[in-house]
Amino acid sequence: MSGSVLFVCLGNICRSPLAEAALRREAEAAGLDLLVDSAGTGSWHVGKGPDPRSCAEAARHGIDIRSYRARQVKPQDFARFDRIVALDASNLADLKRIAPAGAKARLSLLLDHVPGLEGQDVADPYYGGPEGFETTWRQVSAAARGLVAEMRRAGA
Ligand code: 4NP
Repeated sequence: MSGSVLFVCLGNICRSPLAEAALRREAEAAGLDLLVDSAGTGSWHVGKGPDPRSCAEAARHGIDIRSYRARQVKPQDFARFDRIVALDASNLADLKRIAPAGAKARLSLLLDHVPGLEGQDVADPYYGGPEGFETTWRQVSAAARGLVAEMRRAGA
């Protein structure tokens, strides 16, 4: 079983790196051979590592994400990935706007993969305290479990 998932937030330094880390872990635990990556709609942080608060949150769960580097989503991503998962509705709207015609990637909102939280945004924790990063982790790890379950059901 294989597949590919790209997570997209605004800066690619807070939320989507945590989503990437969570899905890498879930896929490995499930024995799924997945290509997992993350990107931002914005370009401000391109080339930078994740926010130290995201690194600390990942480290609390035994995952080292300090080597991740921010990049901006690009048109080729819509052909390379089966799924592109937006962290909030604004990111999803931006993805729909830049998606090339006939793009292969299926777009979705991250919390649509968590029963009971459909339609909700993963709030941007950038301007808040560390508790925002805990909430982000909880949400992205629940979504990672949901995505793995969906992909298994789909046999992909
Ligand atoms: P992210 O958080 O989208 O979760 O990576 C942000 C990080 C930086 C900025 C915005 C959101 N920023 O405006 O610099």
